[in-house]
Amino acid sequence: MTKTIVNSWNEWDPLRHVIVGRADDCHIPPEEPALDAKVPEDSDMRGQWGRRPQETIDRANELLDNFASLLTKRGIRVDRPTSIDHSKPVTTPDFHTDSQFGCMPPRDVLLTVGAEILEATMSYRCRWFEYLNYRPLLQRYWEEDPNFRHEAAPKPRLTDADYHPDYLSEKIGVAQRLKWAEEKHFVTTEEEPLFDAADVLRFGRDLVVQHGFTTNLKGIEWLRRHFPDHRVHTVNFPGDPYPIHIDATFTPLRPGLILNNPQRRLPDDQRKLFNDNDWEIVDAAQPAHNTPPPLCYSSTWLSMNVLVLDPKTVCVEASEVYQMEQMDKLGMEVVPVELRDAYAFGGGLHCCTADVYREGGCEDYFP
Ligand code: ARG
Repeated sequence: MTKTIVNSWNEWDPLRHVIVGRADDCHIPPEEPALDAKVPEDSDMRGQWGRRPQETIDRANELLDNFASLLTKRGIRVDRPTSIDHSKPVTTPDFHTDSQFGCMPPRDVLLTVGAEILEATMSYRCRWFEYLNYRPLLQRYWEEDPNFRHEAAPKPRLTDADYHPDYLSEKIGVAQRLKWAEEKHFVTTEEEPLFDAADVLRFGRDLVVQHGFTTNLKGIEWLRRHFPDHRVHTVNFPGDPYPIHIDATFTPLRPGLILNNPQRRLPDDQRKLFNDNDWEIVDAAQPAHNTPPPLCYSSTWLSMNVLVLDPKTVCVEASEVYQMEQMDKLGMEVVPVELRDAYAFGGGLHCCTADVYREGGCEDYFP
């Protein structure tokens, strides 16, 4: 009898097996083009780099461990990555960086589609080797599951030709950034295919991919050719001055229902797929906080970065009272999970996990 370890086609079917990241040895990486473009101009992170303070690593690990045991108690199998030494510099024939990033968040690196887990190209030099944190797990799945497809997208060269130099200036200003986002002028060029896994949402036969800082059009074309049985849709969210990773912007909760960040609405001309199939796109509730926690890359909209356990149950960060209330009104059972002190390590409840197994198969939700 063969054993299926890896199977996940969407963001909402009953979750049975998941990877939860670790804060071990996470670093604030040194300056590099793609990262600089993303760090908000008023951020406390500008100009500093190095290993994150130990007490913040310990606290984040405590929260991630608690989240993992909460999932385990609900009958979900949880695996954890093995941290590599992120203080090590990386030199390839094309670039050098003095440190790496961390083994958070797994969602950025690993894209699970059916029986396949695909390692993304990534677009930051400091994250080039991040997949190594997950290799012990992926090797094990490969040994145990004869149908598991372990894939890796072509590693990008990440020379300076990958980044638009006008994004490197110190002060760009939010107005200019919004204008560029509207024009789809992002920090990454079309030199070679680039994508982060967290720019992709899975809807059975359809993959919805955000074109932004971390994923370029060639990256989306690469995904289209790699998944010939899927339909791949490109989306943009013009209200976002730092467009990376779709999961604090557009959050499917169950078939027919998606939360959308009210500051980053999906443009009308990109709604056809959803409208034609009677999917409802509702504005997400406001975040409970006015600012992100210290040394955090993300915005306060990690409030909507939820992990759906099944179409009726959702994990929401425990301080996000408005988001919990909205979920309740939408008929979801809410599982509050404390995670805010781990946000600085790269994200919320969806980011810090990667699917291994959800029940169900590949459905066509947009026939
Ligand atoms: N760009 C998002 C925001 O700041 C954060 C997304 C984080 N997601 C992730 N998978 N790391 O609003």
